[in-house]
Amino acid sequence: MSSNHYSENQLRKYSLKLDKIPKLNYNDPKVDEYISSNEPVVIQGCDLVASANSWDLDYLKRKMMGKYTVILSQNHKFKYHDEKKIQSCKTDFKPTTRRVQMKFSEFVDKIKNWKKNDERLYLQQVLDNSVGISIVQDFVKFNWNWITEKQIKNNWGSLTSNLLLVSMEGNVTPCHYDEQQNFYAQVKGYKRIILFRPSQFKCLYPHPVYHPYDRQSQVDFEKPDYNRFPNFKDACGFETVLEPGEVLYIPMYWFHHVESLLRGGYTISINFWYKAGPTGQIVYPLKDYQKVAIMRNVEKMLNDALRDSTEVGTLLKTIVDGRYFE
Ligand code: FUM
Ligand code: FE
Repeated sequence: MSSNHYSENQLRKYSLKLDKIPKLNYNDPKVDEYISSNEPVVIQGCDLVASANSWDLDYLKRKMMGKYTVILSQNHKFKYHDEKKIQSCKTDFKPTTRRVQMKFSEFVDKIKNWKKNDERLYLQQVLDNSVGISIVQDFVKFNWNWITEKQIKNNWGSLTSNLLLVSMEGNVTPCHYDEQQNFYAQVKGYKRIILFRPSQFKCLYPHPVYHPYDRQSQVDFEKPDYNRFPNFKDACGFETVLEPGEVLYIPMYWFHHVESLLRGGYTISINFWYKAGPTGQIVYPLKDYQKVAIMRNVEKMLNDALRDSTEVGTLLKTIVDGRYFE
């Protein structure tokens, strides 16, 4: 991969087979074909967040006067965990990140003075009224016409939230999937995004559903344990380096790994999450993402019925071993 804006050595190295995600102009009719078939595509020129072009650390520091959610990590990885699942999970769980509320000015000071071995920071704040009137005014000027047309055309549900992500260079959001449709808009800096189809489930080994790391892959891409996760050798995905002004469609249930480039400076991105549309008539054969949804339901049902997360695996094994074959 080469570009005027970054070099190969700004990308972390993984042993993965990766194809490129296509980049298309917003008026190319193929954009709608990708979206309607739940296939990722990078969309250029749609000006979704052009009104946020003035957003940088200085501007946001002047306009955002409240306290905001910042994740702190002991290393460059920001693996998400669900606080609510910590109690019900019987296995020991020690998160490697913590969530704090911080003034924007404090966040900026900390990242400007950051030294090796300090905790890393990643601001992840929902765009709500707490962000202040100026940011809300820019938000209102997002290209809602364009995005709402996509939402309606594809029969998606409602917009659930917009997340503002301000990242230090080199931060990684490890591989996971979300249960919503996502338009991912890049405002500042460059992010490398690696995607995998839902059918790669067996290569990526997401944690059990009851676990606080539900939806997150167990595989450490930097040091894969091939004994525990042998199918990871066969993992194959897609990648892109997202540039300012570009929007990536991340289809729901697609696994994604996100990294701010090494030595690339800080990055700003904005997520647009939409609920899945109404199910309507179910068409067979089922799609791979529908099978992931079924697996989630089976796991949830067993965990609820047994009321003991440590028994779920044994029961599932008893159902399968010596009885069901591929
Ligand atoms: O780090 C990130 O930008 C992650 C975004 C996402 O998981 O949707
Ligand atoms: Fe995500």
